[in-house]
Amino acid sequence: MKPPRRSMLFMPGDSLRKIAKAATLEADCIVMDLEDGVALNQKAEARKVIAQAFQEVDFGRREKLIRINPLYTGMTYEDIHATIACQPDGYVIPKVEHPDQLKEIDYILRQLEHQQNYPSQSIGLYAVIESALGIVNVGQIAGATPRLRALMFGAEDLAGDIGAQRTSDGWEVFYARSAVVTAAAAYRLDPIDTVHPDFHDPEGLERECQKARQMGYTGKMAIHPNQVATMNKMFSPSPEEIDRAKRLLQVNQEQQAQGIGAFAFEGKMVDMPMIRHAERILQSAQIAGLLDISASQDQ
Ligand code: COA
Ligand code: MG
Repeated sequence: MKPPRRSMLFMPGDSLRKIAKAATLEADCIVMDLEDGVALNQKAEARKVIAQAFQEVDFGRREKLIRINPLYTGMTYEDIHATIACQPDGYVIPKVEHPDQLKEIDYILRQLEHQQNYPSQSIGLYAVIESALGIVNVGQIAGATPRLRALMFGAEDLAGDIGAQRTSDGWEVFYARSAVVTAAAAYRLDPIDTVHPDFHDPEGLERECQKARQMGYTGKMAIHPNQVATMNKMFSPSPEEIDRAKRLLQVNQEQQAQGIGAFAFEGKMVDMPMIRHAERILQSAQIAGLLDISASQDQ
């Protein structure tokens, strides 16, 4: 079964203290950063610190990811070469604008997986879409390689690129936020919502999680330990939702057996889209470890 990706906690790759701290938190994914969270003159040090962290820190069940620098910086190869021996679960690729960028990294990883004796395709890719060109090409990016596991939406960089001003409603990035989740759904990737930079705003964070979940997002990027619990809660179905979904699917089975496709449940019409929604609730409950049936899922 694929792992949950409700909370993806970022920290600067040159901070062993923060990486070690992250391994004590309930974050589903730990993203050690080599990109914008690390100063230019600290990149080499950060690569070393990350390699050290993989040796010394017990990350438990958490997914271990490394965000590398985009291809145009010329640092991508070094980032990968310096960390491939750590066998990370995957690389987060920022500022993806074209499917060829992912294909190029996929090609490099294919050689390195072979060299290192890792199973083929075992190192995943997670693409951050955070520019106007990235949004325009997001459909092609989503289908670039089977190695891709998630599309992550970056609202702050996008707003900078299109010249938008961020508002608390986020309507200025609604089109892009919607484009990313739609492309992810089309290719069965995990859609991960943008950061909430104000890490002393639990109510605002909860509202943003709710909005993202209503749009179809299944997780969010975190930048501070105190954001993780809210994300895990908000991107997990509640006991009431799980209970209702189970009952609905039970009634559906009975109706189907009688040859009935559309029927009334708790006073409302139910047909296929609602069945699909109920199935999704149970699927995400299972991924979050809230159910004990053992149907298997892809990565
Ligand atoms: N991951 C792991 N641990 C973190 C953390 C993170 N993202 N952010 C803070 N912590 C730790 C701190 O080290 C501190 O632990 P300590 O008491 O053992 O030293 C504790 O959590 C409380 O931190 P706090 O004092 O509230 O924050 P700060 O002033 O140390 O750091 C930021 C604030 C914004 C610099 C920090 O949260 C951070 O580095 N965030 C990630 C930034 C990043 O990676 N950006 C790029 C991706 S968008
Ligand atoms: Mg960024």
